[in-house]
Amino acid sequence: MLALCIQVIAVLVICAAGTENRDVSTVFSAWNMGDKPLHEQLAMVYKEMENLKNEQAVMKQKHEVMSQALPYCSQPPLNTDVDMNLTSLSGGEHLFNTLSQFEDEEGSGEDEHEAGVDPCHHYTALDQVWRATNYTTKKVVCDRSMQWKGWYRLFYRGKTIQMPERCVRKEMCGTHSPLWLVGGHPRIRDGVVTRKVCGNWRNNCCLYKSTPIQVKACIGNYYVYKFVKPVVCHSAYCADINTLVCGKCRKSESCITRDKITWMCQKNRNRVKAKIHFFASFPGQISGKVNKIVYRKVFVNQGRAFNYRTGIFRAPVSGVYQFFFSTQTGGSGPTDLWLVINGYWMAVSHSNVQGPNSVGNLSTYMTTLRKGATVYVTHNRGRSWANTSSNTIIFGGSLLMVRKI
Ligand SMILES: *[C@@H]1O[C@H](CO)[C@@H](O)[C@H](O)[C@H]1NC(C)=O
Ligand SMILES: *[C@@H]1O[C@H](CO)[C@@H](O)[C@H](O)[C@H]1NC(C)=O
Ligand SMILES: *[C@@H]1O[C@H](CO)[C@@H](O)[C@H](O)[C@H]1NC(C)=O
Ligand SMILES: *[C@@H]1O[C@H](CO)[C@@H](O)[C@H](O)[C@H]1NC(C)=O
Repeated sequence: MLALCIQVIAVLVICAAGTENRDVSTVFSAWNMGDKPLHEQLAMVYKEMENLKNEQAVMKQKHEVMSQALPYCSQPPLNTDVDMNLTSLSGGEHLFNTLSQFEDEEGSGEDEHEAGVDPCHHYTALDQVWRATNYTTKKVVCDRSMQWKGWYRLFYRGKTIQMPERCVRKEMCGTHSPLWLVGGHPRIRDGVVTRKVCGNWRNNCCLYKSTPIQVKACIGNYYVYKFVKPVVCHSAYCADINTLVCGKCRKSESCITRDKITWMCQKNRNRVKAKIHFFASFPGQISGKVNKIVYRKVFVNQGRAFNYRTGIFRAPVSGVYQFFFSTQTGGSGPTDLWLVINGYWMAVSHSNVQGPNSVGNLSTYMTTLRKGATVYVTHNRGRSWANTSSNTIIFGGSLLMVRKI
């Protein structure tokens, strides 16, 4: 065991040394590009910085996994009398396993080619009544003897169920040391997360720090778990019987708990975090009738509600919006730009000056729109002027507040 650890540390050190050398040389090559234009040098340096950041993140992850497992190296993973008690409890038939996770790691890379497949739709259903937190030991199961592969979804008699987020009494879940999830379940927007797993024994909720697992929240109020062999026998992943209610929550609800014992469905608060802002310009000249000005130079398009290919803004939520639009004209007779909302001409930017004078005219308009309303600017007559940097023909707007109509 000790030898294994040293080996692991050695690999870690070699890895670290390897990446460092490579990066230093690449950074040096970037600095040596003295003959290249400054922006190319900068781009190169930025790229290197990105690479370094990524490598750092990867190293950190590796380090975390190592430090999860390393404590088992320096000291025996289990107290000997626990060993004995567990062995005697299981009638001496099952040998006690104290293997660390490293022995299982060979071949664990085989799932990687499945990247891109959503585990929410590609999982193995695990419907075993004995995993329930209210199941008292009648048979003693050890999840170490399972051949885990890929993702799993827990069921209880066909109904969705979750892992417990708190300590489970020993001798439940059909095993001696029940495994529970530390740190709670993720939210959908968290994607795949890694969570620690603890095994309760001897009044110590986390006497066994089991191998961390990956968890993902799925639409429809269920979770998928990437179970792996736990570090000891006899331990097994539990299914929290109190979370059966979560399977009944609707799509518009989430399953909540304060104490991690009582769970209930709660309607999702309509938290529209709508931040909608856009600002675009037309970098040329327009004369006569142009149905929709296609403001193709987009400076801001927060929320992507403005389509620079069509020039149309479409309200993504109901609420109060403010728009502004402008033109610049000179000596070419009256010029009118109209703000068109749902097909109605609502506001004009009008200008009319004679001779060599030129003038700009900015108009604003504030209104309440329903979700889906369309807004664009039409050029009805006259001539508007702009070049690529003057930004005189512009169109922009913001959602000021979300409001149901
Ligand atoms: C193991 O069992 C013995 C006798 O049954 C008991 O005295 C001892 O406290 C137990 N050890 C643990 C760690 O539970
Ligand atoms: C466990 O809980 C389920 C659901 O409430 C119930 O149907 C089952 O009978 C319980 N089992 C035990 C052993 O109490
Ligand atoms: C600017 O627009 C306003 C409102 O349409 C109009 O009354 C005004 O005459 C315009 N200004 C000029 C200089 O054309
Ligand atoms: C654009 O127009 C402005 C204002 O007339 C002028 O100062 C600027 O030089 C012009 N830029 C280009 C690129 O033509």
